[in-house]
Amino acid sequence: MTACVYTIASGKGGTGKTTTTLNLGTSLAMMGKKTIILDADIGMANLGLLIGLEKSKITLHEVLAGTATIEEATYSGIEGLPESLEVIPSGLSLKGFQDADIDKLKDVVAGIVEGADYVLIDSPAGITKDSVIPLLVANRVILVVNPDLASLSDALKIKALGEMLDRPIEGAVLNRVTSDKTELDKNKVSELLGMKVLETIPEDANVRQSAAFKSPVVLNAPGSPSSIAFKKLATRITGEEFKEDTTKGKKKTGLIAKFKKSLSRKK
Ligand SMILES: Nc1ncnc2c1ncn2[C@@H]1O[C@H](COP(=O)(O)OP(=O)(O)O)[C@@H](O)[C@H]1O
Ligand SMILES: [Mg+2]
Repeated sequence: MTACVYTIASGKGGTGKTTTTLNLGTSLAMMGKKTIILDADIGMANLGLLIGLEKSKITLHEVLAGTATIEEATYSGIEGLPESLEVIPSGLSLKGFQDADIDKLKDVVAGIVEGADYVLIDSPAGITKDSVIPLLVANRVILVVNPDLASLSDALKIKALGEMLDRPIEGAVLNRVTSDKTELDKNKVSELLGMKVLETIPEDANVRQSAAFKSPVVLNAPGSPSSIAFKKLATRITGEEFKEDTTKGKKKTGLIAKFKKSLSRKK
């Protein structure tokens, strides 16, 4: 099999690309799909940070610098993550970023598509060369937007860029949605962007909390509103039917709660 390569992009920074890449990737892997998530935000890499891979010596930086192979930069069997999820993090150092040649990304992606179901590429914001190349290597593009005009206006530039590069835009993920009545709703966002909104992801404190626990929210708080939305997004991608897993409906007990419980048992 040859993987379908999705690039997760946005115009504006901080809309939730890394969070979406990690949680969509984890959800696809939980569905048994062999999924690779790759951090192509080589300047502001933080995918590894969200799952405790930040100390990895070999990353995409070294591969793009020609000093390591892609196999060496691919991490699998990561504790607490599904077996079928592989992660290619980027490094945190400025030197690593300077030495990395983004033009090599095409070869890197060509080298990993065989044998996987999905490759998700976390890309940088903006319209620099570093963000154009991840669009070029994609089969499909997903835009992560927030319900505000600045985010949508910037997303429209990526849409135009995708069209110029002949990359089909699968649709938008509308992230950080609150119940604020002044916020743009899904239909308005879809109309303004001229594309489908694949899923709306609510603003959810569990996202940040899970980042602190270095675990994807879909695993750390499986019944939380954002988790359910990310899992729905995954079924939207695979075309399967979404089934809510009631056994995983409860929020996983946090470390502090576990600690308190163990203390009360000792009394
Ligand atoms: N649905 C959400 N609810 C709450 N916080 C979120 C949500 N999505 C993202 N965040 C937070 O927003 C910040 C930016 O998200 P991130 O995924 O790093 O964005 P990007 O990769 O686009 O820069 C992070 O602190 C993240 O925890
Ligand atoms: Mg990011």
